[in-house]
Amino acid sequence: MAVNTVLITGSSTGIGYHVAHGLKKRGYRVLATARQLKDVERLRSEGLESTQLDLDCSASIQQAMDWVEEETDGALFALFNNGAYGQPGAIEDLSRDVLRQQLETNLLGWHELTCRVLPLMRRQGYGRIIQNSSVLGLITLRFRGAYNTSKFALEGYTDTLRQELDGTGISVSLIEPGPVTSQFRDNAYAKFQQHINIQNSPFRSTYEAVEQRLSSESDTADMFTLGPDAVLKKVVHALESKRPKPRYYVTFPTYLFGYLRRILSTRMLDRLLLKVSRSENK
Ligand SMILES: NC(=O)c1ccc[n+]([C@@H]2O[C@H](COP(=O)([O-])OP(=O)(O)OC[C@H]3O[C@@H](n4cnc5c(N)ncnc54)[C@H](OP(=O)(O)O)[C@@H]3O)[C@@H](O)[C@H]2O)c1
Repeated sequence: MAVNTVLITGSSTGIGYHVAHGLKKRGYRVLATARQLKDVERLRSEGLESTQLDLDCSASIQQAMDWVEEETDGALFALFNNGAYGQPGAIEDLSRDVLRQQLETNLLGWHELTCRVLPLMRRQGYGRIIQNSSVLGLITLRFRGAYNTSKFALEGYTDTLRQELDGTGISVSLIEPGPVTSQFRDNAYAKFQQHINIQNSPFRSTYEAVEQRLSSESDTADMFTLGPDAVLKKVVHALESKRPKPRYYVTFPTYLFGYLRRILSTRMLDRLLLKVSRSENK
């Protein structure tokens, strides 16, 4: 069986970029997609097979999948759903459109792509779907409401999908990174500036600290931040293990909060998470 072709979204930077190159080095055939043409060209110049895939656009997903089917004769071993962004801001400062946009990219685009890939995997009788979720799919923090919503939804979505695919030979795994070095914070800062009206917000004074955190080189999470190789290792396990895990924790904060959310009451967890948020936004 053709067990080596992996399709990746959001390969322009960060985790997707590192995993694409890492898997290629390991002998996989990597189909590294990116939202923007300039990144597709750069990835090709680096020796990767690449095409454009914008998760916000059904036509783009369709085109990318036509390309995948043609290139692989419909034999795709794995999908690494990865491309996403974080929209910072308090829940009451998010317009309906801004929240919808977050879900379009981080959830609905993944859904549409997954539904295009599943018939190929069902036909061949095996496959692996790997979802790059987050510690923020396990616990919540203030001003991360849009992103939290998308990743909590992804957790429920993926748990359901895993049950529905039981017995098909297709495994489904969630990766739960904590802070990992990437362009994530820069991209989140741009979305914050673009969509949040600071002056009209009841959180105006706190937002100054939020802005400082998003625009600074380092923050309090940095001592727990790992490089993207930590995610690659988990992806490799999810691809190569005979029994891929439903969830892979990455970084100390994920292990810690993954444990605490199971043993603390909601009230106690809230108190702890408020402390974390206040200390990172002071
Ligand atoms: N870094 C962390 O601390 C961390 C922690 C937990 C989870 N994660 C998860 O890791 C994944 C990768 O993020 P990252 O940390 O590597 O951040 P990143 O460097 O910002 O990379 C995000 C990738 O997603 C792509 N993307 C954004 N919108 C897209 C769209 N509409 N269609 C297709 N691709 C799109 C970006 O493309 P452009 O370059 O074109 O914008 C980029 O390639 C995300 O799912 C994120 O939620 C990251």
